[in-house]
Amino acid sequence: MGSRMVGFRATRIGESEDGEARLEVSEGCSEGGVGRWTGSRAWRRNTVTAGDHTGVQPLSRVRVHAVTFALDESASVNALPALLGMHGEHIEWLNVEIRSPKPSADDWVGVFSPAKFNSSTCPPEFGNNKEQAPLICSSPIKYHYANYSSPDYAKTGKAILRFQLINQRSDFSFALFSGGISSPKLIAVSNTVSFANPRAPVYPRLAQGKSWDEMTVTWTSGYDIDEAAPFVEWGPKNGPKTRSPAGTLTFSRNDMCGSPARTFGWRHPGYIHTSFLKDLWPNSVYTYKLGHQLFDGTYVWSKLYTFKASPYPGQNSLQKVIIFGDMGKAERDGSNEYSNYQPGSLNTTDQLIKDLDNIDIVFHNGDITYANGYISQWDQFTSQVEPIASTVPYMITSGNHERDWPGSGSFYNTTDSGGECGVLAETMFYVPAENRAKFWYATDYGMFRFCIADTEHDWREGTEQYRFIEQCLASVDRRKQPWLIFLAHRVLGYSSSSFYAQEGSFEEPMGRESLQKLWQKYRVDIAFYGHVHNYERSCPIYENQCVSTEKSHYTGTMNGTIHVVAGGGGSHLSDFTTLQTRWSLYRDSNYGFVKLTAFNHSSLLFEYKRSNDGKVHDSFTISRDYRDVLACVHDSCSPTTMAS
Ligand SMILES: [Fe+2]
Repeated sequence: MGSRMVGFRATRIGESEDGEARLEVSEGCSEGGVGRWTGSRAWRRNTVTAGDHTGVQPLSRVRVHAVTFALDESASVNALPALLGMHGEHIEWLNVEIRSPKPSADDWVGVFSPAKFNSSTCPPEFGNNKEQAPLICSSPIKYHYANYSSPDYAKTGKAILRFQLINQRSDFSFALFSGGISSPKLIAVSNTVSFANPRAPVYPRLAQGKSWDEMTVTWTSGYDIDEAAPFVEWGPKNGPKTRSPAGTLTFSRNDMCGSPARTFGWRHPGYIHTSFLKDLWPNSVYTYKLGHQLFDGTYVWSKLYTFKASPYPGQNSLQKVIIFGDMGKAERDGSNEYSNYQPGSLNTTDQLIKDLDNIDIVFHNGDITYANGYISQWDQFTSQVEPIASTVPYMITSGNHERDWPGSGSFYNTTDSGGECGVLAETMFYVPAENRAKFWYATDYGMFRFCIADTEHDWREGTEQYRFIEQCLASVDRRKQPWLIFLAHRVLGYSSSSFYAQEGSFEEPMGRESLQKLWQKYRVDIAFYGHVHNYERSCPIYENQCVSTEKSHYTGTMNGTIHVVAGGGGSHLSDFTTLQTRWSLYRDSNYGFVKLTAFNHSSLLFEYKRSNDGKVHDSFTISRDYRDVLACVHDSCSPTTMAS
């Protein structure tokens, strides 16, 4: 077994407090923490965390820097089959067989990729003094306890684990450790496993382009542009096909702002390609295939996908929109202590896949993957949502787990992005923003106008983002696009979550204060938020006052904006306060998502569905005409002149 470990340094090192701190900077959600408002710009996190709804990225529990070597010739790990994706699959299951002469209940198996996870590639971040550097310098991409499906393992020393692997540009190995995940001792390493073409184009995600008749396709591959030319071959279903070139982006460890993204969590992201499919016919069905033309003239192809082009802005057709936040990812094979961090994620994903024929566009309102600096997890996420994102536009919002990092220009000084500081979100997904590093944008879908804010950058009056929000709200013709929707990750409006209630604000400080006059002036129908991991709906409200007593069938003028927290996409649930607030109409501490259906310019259906049963647990309708949108309500019109 030792011979397989060429390149591993076999000297034992002590545990360094410093190293431990580096590894554990990513400790889940600041939203779970009791925040302390410290002045004009910075929302600081106390060291105290509130309650059991905080989450910990499971990979951050593995103390990679503390690994020691205890390679044992009589222990073994065998993974079968060793070659995956023989028929073009990019998700495969395999068996890993374990034998250990000294088994223990806390033995575990880590999946590493690339397969050679030795210290020879440790970058300077791990310390210039090689004696101080850790023995391995990359986190596993996932792990399982050895006794997960073999309860007698601690007695017999024999176990078989089922793992699901996805194609992510490199080979894999499985390593057996004793000592639990806190003092890992490496016992044995498996044979190498790989996909037939590890560099194949995978996980396409659609997003609306900057104009209504443009769809963008973003995907990941192992081909840089000096090896192959990326493109999309596409056209109307049953019609002639054309090819559109793709741009290619990538980034390096040095683009990460801190640990773990820059250290144990780093993994090469591959090459991210985006192609712009233009001049689409409204509502027409298209097929597409990802392609790479190698310089020897041969081609590498993905499978064939289908999408429906977006409607013309103002067009009257049935339009169905999904909105949720904070979904994250989970492993179908149960690894990483499945259900510990984002327990609702797979249920939400599966409900959306089941109903995909009745969905036109999806908004994932921030906190996308919770990779928190463990970069491999972005591949896992894009693989998990592929059936959705390859079929309908998958529009994302920036959250604290995408962007926040001290001293990096984020509005909050937390370490929630695990050192990613926005680079992953801004590269892995396309959004039609002027500048993807400033994640605000507008997008139209038929009778809807969506104005997407970026709460991780300053939104207050006088800022660039404030000007954008006003411009987005002001520039829509409401006769053609009556349904005006505002989205932001943190709750800028109203939430009864216990941590906002503790603050006494029931919102992110400076949210309403800055924006309510815009929501009112431009008659925003519904404002959606995530960040708080539950569901809540307010009355139509302005300046803390309900402006309607109606609860489920709104007709005529709206008088105010309905605020909705839809942050139960998957991540561990948040608590509600026991305080009763007048404006809170419906609360559900569960996993779920919202569906909006515009039947025409006068009729909208709102439904909240739970992820575990797909059933509607809250709903309302809006029925009104254009004159109701124009009607002057409190603070929504300029004073009229007496002159005649
Ligand atoms: Fe969040």
